[in-house]
Amino acid sequence: MDQFSSSDFGAAFKWGVAISAFQNEGAHDAQGKGMSVWDAFTARKGKIKDGTHARHACNFFELYAEDIALAKQMGFTVFRFSLSWCRIIPNGTGAVNQAGIDFYHRVIDACLAAGLEPYVTLYHWDLPQALEQKGGWCHRGTVFAFEAFAALCARAYGHKVKNWLVLNEPFGFTSLGYMLGVHAPGKFGLSYFLPAVHHVALAQAEGGRALRAEAPGARVGTTYSCSQIIPYTTNNNDLQAARRADALFNRLFIEPSLGMGYPADAFPLLKRIERRYALWRDWEKLPFHFDFIGLQNYFPLVVRYNAFMPYVQASEVKARYRQVPLTGLGWEISGQGMYSILQQFAAYKGVKEIMVTESGAAFDDVLRNGEVKDDERIRYFQEYLSAVLLAKRSGVPVSGYFAWTLTDNFEWAEGYKARFGLVHVDFDTQRRTMKDSGKWFRELLAQPAPQSAKRRGPEAASR
Ligand code: BGC
Repeated sequence: MDQFSSSDFGAAFKWGVAISAFQNEGAHDAQGKGMSVWDAFTARKGKIKDGTHARHACNFFELYAEDIALAKQMGFTVFRFSLSWCRIIPNGTGAVNQAGIDFYHRVIDACLAAGLEPYVTLYHWDLPQALEQKGGWCHRGTVFAFEAFAALCARAYGHKVKNWLVLNEPFGFTSLGYMLGVHAPGKFGLSYFLPAVHHVALAQAEGGRALRAEAPGARVGTTYSCSQIIPYTTNNNDLQAARRADALFNRLFIEPSLGMGYPADAFPLLKRIERRYALWRDWEKLPFHFDFIGLQNYFPLVVRYNAFMPYVQASEVKARYRQVPLTGLGWEISGQGMYSILQQFAAYKGVKEIMVTESGAAFDDVLRNGEVKDDERIRYFQEYLSAVLLAKRSGVPVSGYFAWTLTDNFEWAEGYKARFGLVHVDFDTQRRTMKDSGKWFRELLAQPAPQSAKRRGPEAASR
């Protein structure tokens, strides 16, 4: 399928664009904000590829009205953003910073005034540093602190916000931050990773329960990173390696929430969680019935057996050695990967509704004469959206698609070189310029034209 219009997805389909607090807000110490693990991590030498930090980022803190107006201009009707825990509760627990609460009221009000539904993520990786000093996600106290934060947010905003996401990509931040040490807080090894996994899995459920208790009628979801896992060959070693990778990349957090426990059948090492970190009755606390789940798929992974890789005994066959289309970060572009992951998650009995809460690509954009001609990004969206539509037509209950991301922002350990935005940002002047991909969405999402002049995705792209 290479042609579609937005109406093909149905009138109820939600079209959104997503950002996150640490990547966008800047204003790192404004108006009483506390420090997060990412403020601390970016201050360490050599952690961010281009040596940058996010103290100012793309200054969403001051420019939120302009950014929300851009999202509206592009035709989106959902705006997904996250709350900075340490802007609201500077030390993670205890005193509340009213200026932080007020900031998000302004953002929510601006969304509502523009006709954009706010989808609010409670946690997009920026743990308060004060909690990290007590052990961060390796420490059970963080679960209780998170539950209290969730309840506070629901009380503050629940009368305005109907859609919530508890966590952004739990596997993303536990693996990169607590196993590999390449993201904040920079810890590595199983003795950090396994307790972090367990406490984060508990927090996803406790956070969900707190939202539901304090914001009755809210729709509560959470997001998962996911990748189609493809064994390199059909030999048994590669097949088993792919199973282990699938357990980690795709099953680790959703299955406990569905009451299935950790996927130790495929990755027995996870039994250690039970032996070392779980307390009596934790198994009753892990399940939570989400109203919907958010899937965030960027690339598939080809995996082969590798006896030298500790624990998982698997390694990735990098996309750049496989002659496949790549994004600027060397990630494989594969609509088939998106299609397959939607099928995989829809097959869980407990999953009733799926939203694609992030999807996008970084390329080496060039701003020339006031334009960014990012045709590759347009092609990317065409391919991934076609896959979503195919999956929807085959019966997958997918009800929305949120592009990642609105403006170029701080791409974690990659710094500012990886540009994912539909809108270009000049980080010296903070000037915004809509890229061709943003204009493409504007065409796609414009009010449906009369049948004879119906706008088609690909046609709009070539304009
Ligand atoms: C994260 C975003 C990130 C994007 C691109 C997702 O894993 O939620 O914060 O910018 O991927 O790397």
